[in-house]
Amino acid sequence: MQIINTVEEMQKFSDLAREEKKTIGLVPTMGYLHEGHLSLIKRAGKECDIVIVSIYVNPTQFGPNEDLSKYPHDFQRDKTICIENNVNAIFCPTDDSMYQQGYQTFVNVENLTKSLCGKSRPTHFKGVTTIVSKLFNCTKPHKAYFGQKDYQQTRVIKQMTRDLNYNVDIIVCPIIREKDGLAMSSRNRYLNEEERKSALVLSRSLDLAKKLIDKGETNPEKIQREMVKLIESENSTRIDYIELVDVDNLTPKDRIEGKILIALAVFVGKTRLIDNLLV
Ligand code: PAJ
Repeated sequence: MQIINTVEEMQKFSDLAREEKKTIGLVPTMGYLHEGHLSLIKRAGKECDIVIVSIYVNPTQFGPNEDLSKYPHDFQRDKTICIENNVNAIFCPTDDSMYQQGYQTFVNVENLTKSLCGKSRPTHFKGVTTIVSKLFNCTKPHKAYFGQKDYQQTRVIKQMTRDLNYNVDIIVCPIIREKDGLAMSSRNRYLNEEERKSALVLSRSLDLAKKLIDKGETNPEKIQREMVKLIESENSTRIDYIELVDVDNLTPKDRIEGKILIALAVFVGKTRLIDNLLV
């Protein structure tokens, strides 16, 4: 497995793979790999000749009061996981090589970024689309793998790919959960024992919503109210949003019909967690 730190070396690696007619799969991550990331790596391994995992904690997607400086990392562990899973290259550029002095170009998807997480993290998706577009240019993938865990991110990236004519297939993989239902996330490590228990209420509230819908409830507000009640009954939780939205344009539904996305963000202590369910 190669560890590549520079843009030039990365592009050369991918040019060579393309000359050899190999398909390249990219799994973009911020490291501190867990089973969720691993599911994307495995899927890429099944579908592509060459798997590139990028590990880069992208500063432009963090707001001023967010966890950039304490974002967890363990490169040695990530490296072992990648080797064990037949990854061909890790791309881990430095901040200077991604955002060189005088950097001033950003990619922004206008509308899909305004709802859900975009309300409380207004600059987040601009950072995500900028770095993902740069990663596409550096690694030249045929396919790129993303998790449904960040559903809005997948919608925004699909939109960017279409709008900017990237010749990359965006593959969305299911949410991987702990045995008790908590969606895996690098941020789960911030939770103390009590918060870890409280955090279960995110997936439990989605289960509750699904039950209500299965029973025939069609009023999104009623479902939202029941979810709020359940989440607020748990210690140290603060709801950022709970929304039942259209799966494509992410705008609120006034009646449950067809496919919908139930998405939520909840602070447990100081940690902001997200989860969602397609029903
Ligand atoms: P990160 O949070 O490290 O996640 C990398 C990828 O793993 C994302 O596509 C995310 O949706 C997926 N993932 C995380 N937890 C998952 C889970 N429990 N089940 C399935 N997939 C999961 O998302 C980012 O990094 C960044 O925004 C990035 C796209 C790398 C741009 O910087």
